[in-house]
Amino acid sequence: MPAGRFRADGPTTMTRLPLTPEAVLSREEATIGDLRMSWEYAERYVGEDEVLRAAAARGTELGAVPVLPGVGAALRFFAAVLDARAVVEVGGGCGVSGIWLLRGMNPAGVLTSIDIEAEHQRLARQAFAEAGFPPSRTRLICGEALDVLPRLSDAGYDLVFCDAEKTEYGDYLTEAIRLVRVGGIIAFDNALWHDRVADPAQRDTATIAVRELGKRVRDDDRLVPVLFAAGDGLLAAVKRRA
Ligand SMILES: C[S@@+](CC[C@H](N)C(=O)[O-])C[C@H]1O[C@@H](n2cnc3c(N)ncnc32)[C@H](O)[C@@H]1O
Repeated sequence: MPAGRFRADGPTTMTRLPLTPEAVLSREEATIGDLRMSWEYAERYVGEDEVLRAAAARGTELGAVPVLPGVGAALRFFAAVLDARAVVEVGGGCGVSGIWLLRGMNPAGVLTSIDIEAEHQRLARQAFAEAGFPPSRTRLICGEALDVLPRLSDAGYDLVFCDAEKTEYGDYLTEAIRLVRVGGIIAFDNALWHDRVADPAQRDTATIAVRELGKRVRDDDRLVPVLFAAGDGLLAAVKRRA
């Protein structure tokens, strides 16, 4: 794991808690250093191989910031639990999240990956080939997410993953609820948006949009939500039977 994939603004000194029973119960007293050490451990737990690292480096260079490994591992987990045959990703970037999803999906499953940048999709195609996936496993659509999503079939997908324009997350949710089948999963990256969502003083448009999304998902009776502190935050929800 290249150190550059983790933000370098955390504390440099890790304070260890004593290993007493009380300490085990005292997570609320853990220092920021302890929490960061545990977060990094969780991010590295599954880890990335060389193919993912290369795709992540290309994405980072082009500004298509890839999902962190903790989020990637969760996406692969979701796809495997669902034995997913049809997945949509909104904001495919240079292919990192796509590889994680494909690695969990049914071997005959098809990933529909939407991105507005043709160059990002060219590199995603390269990454999928390097990961050993034939072109028949992917459908890459170049365009504005909100133009493309309405053209996709109702209840036609096992999983919808969103990682494009944060201020459009609410619109992606509306489309995703329509696209995913009952029992399927909807997921959003950056649900903690650089630690800004939890801080009510942060009022920029992207932070407000991600915060509002969290409330909508939590309060929607059609969904069973969960918020993971993996990566930059992964919000997920299962679509219930009506
Ligand atoms: C954070 S990157 C996605 C990274 C990718 N999920 C990965 O893990 O490699 C966001 C991507 O969304 C695309 N994007 C931004 N706005 C978009 C829009 N309105 N419609 C479609 N794609 C968009 C960008 O071109 C970029 O590739």
